[in-house]
Amino acid sequence: MTLHVIILAAGQGTRMRSRLPKVLHPLGGKPLLAHVIDTALQLQPDSIHVVYGHGGAQVREALAQARVDWVEQESQLGTGHAVNQVVPLLADGGAVLVLYGDVPMISATILAPLLEQASAGALSVLTAKVADPDGYGRIVRAADGSVIDIVEHKDATPEQLQIDEINTGFLAAPLSRLRHWLAHLGNDNAQGEYYLTDVVSLAVAERVEVQSVVVDDGDETLGVNDRTQLARLERLYQKRQAEHLMRAGVTLADPGRIDVRGELVAGCDTFIDVNCLFEGRVVLGGDVRIGPNCCIRNATVGDSVEVLANSVIDGAHIGAGCRIGPFARIRPETELAEEVHIGNFVEVKKSRIARGSKANHLSYIGDTHMGAGVNVGAGTITCNYDGANKHLTEIGDDVFIGSDTQLVAPVKVGAGATIGAGTTVTRDVPAARLTLSRSPQKTVEGWQRPVKKPK
Ligand code: UD1
Ligand code: CA
Repeated sequence: MTLHVIILAAGQGTRMRSRLPKVLHPLGGKPLLAHVIDTALQLQPDSIHVVYGHGGAQVREALAQARVDWVEQESQLGTGHAVNQVVPLLADGGAVLVLYGDVPMISATILAPLLEQASAGALSVLTAKVADPDGYGRIVRAADGSVIDIVEHKDATPEQLQIDEINTGFLAAPLSRLRHWLAHLGNDNAQGEYYLTDVVSLAVAERVEVQSVVVDDGDETLGVNDRTQLARLERLYQKRQAEHLMRAGVTLADPGRIDVRGELVAGCDTFIDVNCLFEGRVVLGGDVRIGPNCCIRNATVGDSVEVLANSVIDGAHIGAGCRIGPFARIRPETELAEEVHIGNFVEVKKSRIARGSKANHLSYIGDTHMGAGVNVGAGTITCNYDGANKHLTEIGDDVFIGSDTQLVAPVKVGAGATIGAGTTVTRDVPAARLTLSRSPQKTVEGWQRPVKKPK
């Protein structure tokens, strides 16, 4: 059956007190509206229209890649008015589903029965029983239990305010009927708005069946009006991500202390210690151990890798069996082959390091191609930047670089070379030989260490 999804996102979001339009605030690193669009896409609809208003240009720009049609609602005259900005654009047939740009955790599973009921010709509303119905539209039912009306909080009688079943806002209806009802909406109510919810009483008057789906998982229908609600949803969202990972065979030291802002895929028996942040797309192999306080972003990490505490990995590929950190920083375009060791206070940028090479202490390796089995001594750095351009350092297999060496790029070090500690390498180093630059050590006879003058 034809399905049209309409996402309402024209509200001002005043209570966010933000220059950023509300629907662009991130949940799990992704704009609220993008979550809703992704859920809509899962339903494989024939069209998705987003009704935008306040901050419209910014919203469209931020989500320019999204496969949706944008419709502007110039003034926000109510939810019914908003839906009616789209309905006249749709060709007859099929059903319409209304979603909200600021209710990001709704799932396709929960929406499925609404679609079934609408495709059978009914008006279907998603409702929830809640402890605190304050502010929501109330679901009014007849003695036989059928839904006969939705009354907004501001229009409700004292008796209706006692009702604890609320309108979540989500509804689905046959397009032709919805088109007809929207044409008959009035705005004679407490807020002077065209309420979408009034389609219920119009359906009842025409003896069209009104069906309801009552949800008990409140999380999915929670909306964001201010930053405290956003923070609450973020925790709920992260809890779900954590549960998802644990079901996939990952051990989390504390499921309440992991943040996934993007997509994290991990193999089984991987262990993640507390306070780790994953951003973008991160793929961890099996038996990986991630220590506490690590930030990993857009990276692939092979099987049995150990990332020790406080390490940062961004835009890199880490081969199986590598050991990273503690306090290591791996920057974009780095590729480590298997069993590479990158130790504390070592920064690696845009470099390829082959199997089994080690830089264990206090180094900077940038724009480097390093062979296998290389040992980089403590404090060694590549001088890759001349103030204008970056240059390449090439290091062959089995090179031993003494501590505190500077490799002034562009430069090549032949396979099996040994470089003495403290060397400043400015010319290519031959293979399999000892190279060093060192001023001779001398001892000054008769020298006296200065002493403080007596006062
Ligand atoms: C609406 C429902 C209420 C329900 C509640 C659930 C109506 C009349 N009321 O109330 O029954 O309990 O949601 O949260 O529908 N929007 C537009 N254009 C407009 C007005 C609103 O795009 O002209 C969008 C808003 O951006 C928002 C959504 O529609 O995403 C809901 O609008 P809001 O003003 O929050 O409706 P409520 O008064 O909360
Ligand atoms: Ca609302």
